[in-house]
Amino acid sequence: MTAIVQEVYGGPEVLHFAQVPRPALRPQDLLVRVRAIAVNPVDTKVRAGGPANTPVPDAPKILGWDGAGIVAAVGPEVDRFQVGDEVYFAGDITRAGCYAEYVAVDERIVGHKPQTLSFEAAAAMPLTSLTAWEGIIETLGVDEGGRDAGRSILIVGGGGGVGSIAIQIAKRVCRLHVVATASRPESQAQCRKMGADQVIDHSQRLRPQLQELGYTGVDYIFSTAPLGNFPQLVEVLNPLGKICLILGGPEAKALDVSGLVPIRGSVAWELMFTRPRLNVEPEKQGAILNRVAELLDDQTLESTLSAVLSWRDIQEAHRMLETGHTIGKIALRVDG
Ligand SMILES: NC(=O)c1ccc[n+]([C@@H]2O[C@H](COP(=O)([O-])OP(=O)(O)OC[C@H]3O[C@@H](n4cnc5c(N)ncnc54)[C@H](OP(=O)(O)O)[C@@H]3O)[C@@H](O)[C@H]2O)c1
Repeated sequence: MTAIVQEVYGGPEVLHFAQVPRPALRPQDLLVRVRAIAVNPVDTKVRAGGPANTPVPDAPKILGWDGAGIVAAVGPEVDRFQVGDEVYFAGDITRAGCYAEYVAVDERIVGHKPQTLSFEAAAAMPLTSLTAWEGIIETLGVDEGGRDAGRSILIVGGGGGVGSIAIQIAKRVCRLHVVATASRPESQAQCRKMGADQVIDHSQRLRPQLQELGYTGVDYIFSTAPLGNFPQLVEVLNPLGKICLILGGPEAKALDVSGLVPIRGSVAWELMFTRPRLNVEPEKQGAILNRVAELLDDQTLESTLSAVLSWRDIQEAHRMLETGHTIGKIALRVDG
C-alpha cells in the first residue's frame, strides 16, 4: 500500500511517500481503508522527536492518528463493526498511524462516523474531541447532562484544534458559562463562533482581564497551553475549583501547586492516548466517539474543520501546524 513515512527525525521534509506492507490485524482490529486524515501537534512532535537525520527506531514510521474511512476487513474477535462501515478514530500512539491507504485500529477505540459529515470533516474531530470530552467531563467532572449549567470555565487556547471543540462541549453540551482565550482577531472570532460567551487574550495577564469582565474567579479551567502560565491559572481559580492540563514537559517537575492548598483547588491531567496505551477501559473512547457523532449529527456540535488539503501536501500541513497559530483543524484527503 502507499503510505507517508519517515526514516529519520527532522523537519517536514523527512516525510515522503513509499510502498509498505498492509498492516497485520490483531484479533480485535479493524482494517480501515483511510479516506481522510487530520494533523495534530503530536504528529509534528513525534516527527521531530530526535536529533535531525538520526534514524527513527521503527522505520519506516507512519505518523498520524486522526482518521476516517471504511472498514475493509475485521479481525476474528471483532463484534462492533462490519466490513463497509464508515468509521472515525484517533488511534493508538504505540502503533503505526494512518498517513496510509490502510490502518489497523482496535475496534474498542473506534466510533461510527457522523453520518452528516464528509470524511474530511469527520477526520478533523476524534483526537481533539476525546481530549476535550475526557478533560472536561471525566477529569474536571463536569456533568454532561447540564447539572453544572451556569458555572464558569476558562478555556485557554480556545481557537486551536482542542480549544475549538472544548468550547463547544463546555457551552453546548454542559451549558457552562465559557470564557476563552485567544491572542489574535482571527482566533478570537473562532472562539466566539464556537460558542464562547467572552474572550480574553492569553498574551496579556489573565486576572485583570477577568476582573474587568466582573469575575472574581472561575470554577473550572481547561488549558491547552504550555505549563509556564500555571501560576496565572491558580490566581484566577475559585475556591474548590478544578484545573485540567493537557501538556506535561519539564515544567511539570517544578509545578508549584502551593497556591491551590488554601482554596482546596485541584489540578489533574488529560492525556488522550492513556486509555489505548495502558489499556485502561479503551472501549470508553469508542463510546465517547459514538456520542460525539450523535451530537454532530443532531447539530449540537459542529466540525472544527478549517482547511482541507490533499495528502500530497502533508509537508505543508506540518508547516502550518508548527506556526502554533492554526485555527480549528486541518484535514487531508487520502487521494490519488
Ligand atoms: N494531552 C492530550 O491528550 C493532548 C491532546 C491534543 C493536543 N495536546 C497538546 O495540546 C496543545 C494544543 O493542541 P491543539 O491541537 O489545540 O493545537 P493547535 O491547534 O496547534 O493550537 C493552536 C492554538 O494554540 C493557541 N496558542 C498558541 N500559543 C498559546 C499560548 N501560549 N497560550 C495559549 N494558547 C496558545 C493559538 O492561539 P492564538 O493564535 O490565539 O495565540 C492557536 O489558536 C499541543 O501542544 C498539543 O500537543 C495534548
